[in-house]
Amino acid sequence: MEASYSKEAKEALSLARSVAGEGATLLRGAVDNIGTIRTKSTLRDLVTEWDTRCEDLIRERLLAATPEIPLLGEERGSSGVATESEYLWLVDPIDGTVNFAHGLPLFSVVIALERNGQPIAGVVVAPAMGWEFYAHDGGGAFVNGQPLRVSKITKLEQAMLASGFPYDRATSADNNFAEWEHFQRVAGACRRLGCASIDLALVARGWLDGYWETRLQPWDMSAGALLVREAGGRVTSINGGRFVSKDGNAVASNGAIHNQILDELEVVRRDK
Ligand code: IPD
Ligand code: CA
Ligand code: CA
Repeated sequence: MEASYSKEAKEALSLARSVAGEGATLLRGAVDNIGTIRTKSTLRDLVTEWDTRCEDLIRERLLAATPEIPLLGEERGSSGVATESEYLWLVDPIDGTVNFAHGLPLFSVVIALERNGQPIAGVVVAPAMGWEFYAHDGGGAFVNGQPLRVSKITKLEQAMLASGFPYDRATSADNNFAEWEHFQRVAGACRRLGCASIDLALVARGWLDGYWETRLQPWDMSAGALLVREAGGRVTSINGGRFVSKDGNAVASNGAIHNQILDELEVVRRDK
């Protein structure tokens, strides 16, 4: 049974890589021609014509290849397949849209396939960086064909972490500022790259040692969480429970510093 799931995950990954690659090619042609930029929830929350064009392309390809699998995308929502499928495609056509709109190359096309709420195949392509990260359940994680392995750092004080902030951070008290300030004191370094999928991919790559974020969407985290797991790292919820992408939060690390991150989060979130 497990072997057949693994075969399924492998086939799904091959499809996801091919489709994300098409999306990445589309975005490569857009870098010098960003075009119209609209705002969504706040003036900070941007959407370009490329977000929707890229998602339309991905939806068309995935729904044609696997019509029985429902799909949830950031810009167009649910494909509306009202089946009881245990599978779900998650699509972020541009993760890091604010970076993209500013010409900063840290953005990605993200596709994940989940089975019963857990990622079994995932791809994060950052076309302007020349990175294709991918993994399937039990098959290891790779960037451009090279195996990924998490870092070996064991002390939080020497670790480089990444995180991010919600678009309503100016008006919502649940804005990650207290957590960020706390980790600036207790961790080696903190970075805000503006692209959750790349944050997670870089934990898998071993360039970052850990990551936490709350108030995300499932398409931001699912593929990256699988990359970290398959690279030998650990992914949990913000409270240390099971990671479930639709809960919108995650802690990911090389494993060695995971409990230290969770302990510090508990301290700072308890005092809030
Ligand atoms: C955003 C990025 C960012 C994270 C935001 C996300 P988007 O995704 O992943 O790093 O901090 O909360 O919404 O809007 O660029 O797809
Ligand atoms: Ca996103
Ligand atoms: Ca997006």
